[in-house]
Amino acid sequence: MIIYLAPIQGFTDFVYRKAYAAVFSHIDAFFIPYISVKNNTILPKHKRETVLYNNAQKRVIPQVLVKNTDEFLFLSAFLKTAGYNEVNLNLGCPYPMVTKRGKGAGLLNNIYEIEKMLDSFFTQTSLKLSVKLRAGLTSSNEIKAVVPLLNRYPLTEVILHPRIAGQLYKGAINEWTFRFAVENLKKKPVYNGDIFSVETFKKRKLLFPETEKWMLGRGVLMNPFLPAEIKNCSFTHEERTTKLKEFHRLMYEGYGETMDNLGNVINKMTQFWSYFSYSFPNQKKVFKAVKKAKGEESYNEAVRKAFYSLNSI
Ligand SMILES: Cc1cc2nc3c(=O)[nH]c(=O)nc-3n(C[C@H](O)[C@H](O)[C@H](O)COP(=O)(O)O)c2cc1C
Repeated sequence: MIIYLAPIQGFTDFVYRKAYAAVFSHIDAFFIPYISVKNNTILPKHKRETVLYNNAQKRVIPQVLVKNTDEFLFLSAFLKTAGYNEVNLNLGCPYPMVTKRGKGAGLLNNIYEIEKMLDSFFTQTSLKLSVKLRAGLTSSNEIKAVVPLLNRYPLTEVILHPRIAGQLYKGAINEWTFRFAVENLKKKPVYNGDIFSVETFKKRKLLFPETEKWMLGRGVLMNPFLPAEIKNCSFTHEERTTKLKEFHRLMYEGYGETMDNLGNVINKMTQFWSYFSYSFPNQKKVFKAVKKAKGEESYNEAVRKAFYSLNSI
């Protein structure tokens, strides 16, 4: 079984991916949150995010969010020069600010534009391509037109989050759309969505037994052991505590190295804890204490108490 880490803008950045890979070893590939074009250029933060030096894990795939062929080819050329041989195309970002500009899930009802982009990509670059998509922009029926189009291209992977854009990241998973993709795509799709525990994984596996590749996002942010648990690896309480502490230390150090002041580091760590706190017995209390911390001392105290609370399990 193969498990990928989903790209999550603001969370699974290179500091996270590097720290995660140093402590946990059951993710088979890491996807970089999308990069895009702004005023015909690539922002320095996107360059820093994709530079190979920051992406030394065994398989790292950068993702692009684009509105047309020009942007797609421009970013693909940049990524090729940066040293990548594979790119992922975002056809799933659901936010209206993005979809109204014809990007992300905003392309799903524009088959003609997707076709132009894929034709140009495969005739003008030597890169490999995977796509990550939703079931549709406004209707899950859109998948019925997208799948036959995707089948015309030698994609390495099709990753499907079976929701439509309006649902954002909540509400029922559209099971029939994933089943449709399983039955109609030339290559079996990668499943993505709402796998937050071994139990939810098992339920999805029962629904889609032929699926071998799974992409996990928020479930890993909440429980970094989830990929290992799904792959049947277990750890002692002591090992778990040591790994969580080490992971936290590397995150704190990593942001310390990349940010110019401690306030920003603590803000970024607070964001990290919004999910990481679920690895502790009293999630709400733990996160509240971290959120309240304004300086290094109170932050360290909140963290110390959080790790102390693990002793009560
Ligand atoms: C805050 C946030 C940022 C995200 N950023 C991206 C992104 O940059 N590219 C992308 O393809 N998906 C992005 N996603 C979607 C995730 O990759 C994933 O599809 C989604 O969270 C569902 O998987 P999960 O239920 O395992 O978390 C984002 C999701 C969230 C909540």
